[in-house]
Amino acid sequence: MTPPAVLTPIGAEERRRRAGHGGAVVWITGLSGAGKTTLAQAAEHALFARGCGVFVLDGDTVRHGLCADLGFSLTERSENIRRIGEVARLFYEAGQIVIVSAISPLQADRARARALIPAPYFIEVHCRCPLAVCEARDPKGLYRKARAGLLPEFTGISSPYEEPAAPEVLVDSAESSVEQEVGRLMAELERRRIVAGLASGG
Ligand code: ADX
Repeated sequence: MTPPAVLTPIGAEERRRRAGHGGAVVWITGLSGAGKTTLAQAAEHALFARGCGVFVLDGDTVRHGLCADLGFSLTERSENIRRIGEVARLFYEAGQIVIVSAISPLQADRARARALIPAPYFIEVHCRCPLAVCEARDPKGLYRKARAGLLPEFTGISSPYEEPAAPEVLVDSAESSVEQEVGRLMAELERRRIVAGLASGG
């Protein structure tokens, strides 16, 4: 009997040819209320409209399932970010563009996520917004609760946020529109040849 053909795993290049683009991880970090989710969703729509395989991994969503057992101590946040980083890596290997939206307050945790992805394909986006503006927006009423002492270890109030020293993209949601932010991100993805430029017909 002829032995069954040995199939080799489908490689990144084959996936790239099929999809028209390779994998990437866009990692959006910032305070609660800074606009991470808004930017992530707008960028997802922009990439989807260009035919890309794209998916958002949002901290708030992930905490309902994969990370439902985790709270907000720094140790638990580290574990949350570790898991999100590992899932992002799987998406990357599947050739998808994954957009992570998570406070990810600690530099060391973000560095660990970055280390899982080859250099040009990890794009750290700092969604910067002054704490006072986030607090004034307070879309979920969490800052109010944190100030009242009802929500311990709240990022920016009673738990640290370490700003990225050198993010690939810096957006300031207090100063620019979502469209401008998406434009900046898309330009960076084009510069890195993760997606083709519109001018080149991609
Ligand atoms: S992270 O610090 O571990 O990266 P993540 O992005 O997953 O946080 O979740 C943050 C979301 O959880 C916030 O947008 C907010 O809705 C909610 N949340 C509840 N408690 C806290 C807290 N103590 N600090 C920050 N966010 C909190």
